[in-house]
Amino acid sequence: MSATKVTAEIIRRMKGQKIPALTAYDYPMAKLLDEIGIPLILVGDSLGMVVLGYPDTTQVMMAEMEHHVRAAARAKPRALLAADLPYHSYRTVKEAVANSKRLVAAGAEAVKAEGGRKILEQVRSIIAAGIPFFGHLGMLPQSVREEGGYHVKGKVESEREALLTDAQALADAGAFAIVLELVTPPVAREITEKISVPTIGIGSGPDCDGQILVTTDLLGTFPWFTPKFVKPRLNAADQMRAAIEEWKKSI
Ligand code: KIV
Repeated sequence: MSATKVTAEIIRRMKGQKIPALTAYDYPMAKLLDEIGIPLILVGDSLGMVVLGYPDTTQVMMAEMEHHVRAAARAKPRALLAADLPYHSYRTVKEAVANSKRLVAAGAEAVKAEGGRKILEQVRSIIAAGIPFFGHLGMLPQSVREEGGYHVKGKVESEREALLTDAQALADAGAFAIVLELVTPPVAREITEKISVPTIGIGSGPDCDGQILVTTDLLGTFPWFTPKFVKPRLNAADQMRAAIEEWKKSI
């Protein structure tokens, strides 16, 4: 990767390329991912579960997101640093713009929120305020309580149609890329073929433009739960346990 700062526009123009994206919640991980050349780093509200110990992402507060965005931003990554608007932080246009500005003031260069047509006014206003917007469709973790769990989307025709229409609406509104989470692989492929901005898949098959994972899932640093679709590349928790045991015995 060149030394050029990655912007949302650069990610948008990567349509058709394999875009690797990962989460970071602090300075060392943001720095490491950036040194490896990951072009898109997300301070995801997944931090609520894998860092803060909440049962889901619905308890994450703006102040917590700001704290972690500040830490990741201190790495001054070449990568685009995006951050999640947490649950209930974008119910109205006013709230969405004000909270997006707070994340930008903390160091985010783009914001992500969950939903399609339902949040279109918020998306348009965020973009009109000059803040790049990253979409998120499919299984929406912030809706876990209303939906009674984490369900794959796109299995029935009505869901396929809704996903396609939402993806088109977000792309038309100016989103620079869209996460597709737990979307059936054929529907994820169809969306990827039909929309002009990159799709970034998570548990949605191999045919999205990019792929994103929660980095702790990839590295095995949160061993108490790993989504079925993730193949951890490291069992870091086991290695940490062994190292700590060894040290404990050595003193
Ligand atoms: O919160 C998060 O980390 C996310 C990604 C997994 C897409 O939304």
